[in-house]
Amino acid sequence: MKKLSIFFVFILLLKITTVMAQDKTIKILVLIHSDNGGTYELAKEIASGIESDKNALAVIKQVKESPNPKLKNIPVASVEELPSYDGIAFGSPVYFGNISTGMSEFLSKTVNLWTNHSLEGMPATVFMSAGSGAGKELALNAFWNSLAVHGMILVSNGIRGYENISKTIPQGNTVLGTTSLASLKDVERPTKDERGLAELQGRNFAKTALALKGTFPKKQPAANTEKSQDINDLLKQKNIILPQVPQPAGNYKPFVRSGNLVFINQVALKDGKILNPGKLGVDVTEQQVKEAAKATMLNVIAVLKEATGGDLNKVKQCVQLTGIFNTKEDYTKHADLMNAASDLTVEVFGEKGKHARATLGASSIPVNSSVEIQAIFEVE
Ligand SMILES: Cc1cc2nc3c(=O)[nH]c(=O)nc-3n(C[C@H](O)[C@H](O)[C@H](O)COP(=O)(O)O)c2cc1C
Repeated sequence: MKKLSIFFVFILLLKITTVMAQDKTIKILVLIHSDNGGTYELAKEIASGIESDKNALAVIKQVKESPNPKLKNIPVASVEELPSYDGIAFGSPVYFGNISTGMSEFLSKTVNLWTNHSLEGMPATVFMSAGSGAGKELALNAFWNSLAVHGMILVSNGIRGYENISKTIPQGNTVLGTTSLASLKDVERPTKDERGLAELQGRNFAKTALALKGTFPKKQPAANTEKSQDINDLLKQKNIILPQVPQPAGNYKPFVRSGNLVFINQVALKDGKILNPGKLGVDVTEQQVKEAAKATMLNVIAVLKEATGGDLNKVKQCVQLTGIFNTKEDYTKHADLMNAASDLTVEVFGEKGKHARATLGASSIPVNSSVEIQAIFEVE
C-alpha cells in the first residue's frame, strides 16, 4: 500500500513538473517588413537566438505580402493575432531615418489594440536593415516611439556583444537594436558580426520574455475587430482566389480612379471564357446566373486590387453596385440574382462592403454574358 502511494505521489509530481514546464514555454513573433531581404536575414538570426532557449519558439511573419521571391513564402501576420504572443521582435528597413512605410501602415492598423490596452506590458525589441546607416538610431527610436505608445516593454541591446565585433569595418551595432549596413558592400551584409549581434539580441529577448511571461494579460481587442481585419489574409482564410485581371477588349481601361473613387465594370469572364453565358430562362438557370454574378464580382475585386496597388485594405467603402442581367422582359427577381455578388462583397469587406445597389434586366449583354456588374469603390 505504502509503495502504491509513493508511486502515485511520483506520478503527481511528474505531472506538475510537466505542466510547469509547459507553462514556461513562450511564443515570440518576429514581425518584419522587408523589400530586398536584408531585414529578413537579420530576422532569421533573431529567431535562431530566441530558439536557442529550448522553452522559446519563434515565428517569423511579415506585415504584407511581398513580390520578392525570397520573401513571398513568409506568412502574413494579422493585427488581431499580436496579443496572442509572449513578445514581439519588430524588424523593418530604415526609410529616411524612420520605420518603413509598410511597417508604418501595419502599425497604423493597431489602433483597436491600442485603445483596448492589448499590447501593454508585452516585451518588444527592434532591429533594422539600413543602407549606409544614415539615421539608423533615429529610425530605431521612431520604432520605439510607436511601441511605447502601446505600453510595450522595450528591450534594448546596450553594448552587448560590442567587445566581440570587428572594429576594422563599419558595423550596424546600436544600443537600441541591431542594424545592418546593407549598402556597404566591403563585405557580405549582414556581416558575420551583425548576424552575431542579432542572434545575441534574440537570445536576450527570449530571456526577458520568459521572465515576463504571465505578467501581462493577453488581451484581445473587445470592440469591432472587423475594422482592422487584414483583407488579404481574410481572402486566404476563406480560400477566395482572385482571378487574373481581365484585359480590356477595346479602347478603355479596367478601372478609372477619379479622386478617391474607383470605377470598374466587369462581365462573367472566367479562365478566358464567359461562365454560364446566355439569357436566363432560355439558356441558363437562376443558379447558373448567380454563379456568373459571383465570378463577375471576383473579377471586379481583382481589378480593385490592382487599383489599390495590391492592397485591398485600402478600400474604404463599396459605394454602389449595379447588376445588369440578361433576362426575359417579364422577369422580376433580379435582386435575388444580385445577392450572390452583394454577399461576396460583404464577406470580403465586412461593413465596408455594404453598398447602395441597383439591378435591372437587359435584352442582351456584351459577349453573351448573363450578367454585367458596374462597381464604384471609395479607396484611401
Ligand atoms: C524610401 C527609402 C528610404 C531610405 N532611407 C534610408 C535612410 O535614411 N538611411 C539608410 O541608411 N538607408 C535608407 N534606405 C535604404 C534601406 O534602408 C536599405 O536598402 C535596407 O537595407 C532595405 O532593407 P531590406 O533589404 O529589408 O528591404 C532607404 C530606402 C528607401 C527605399
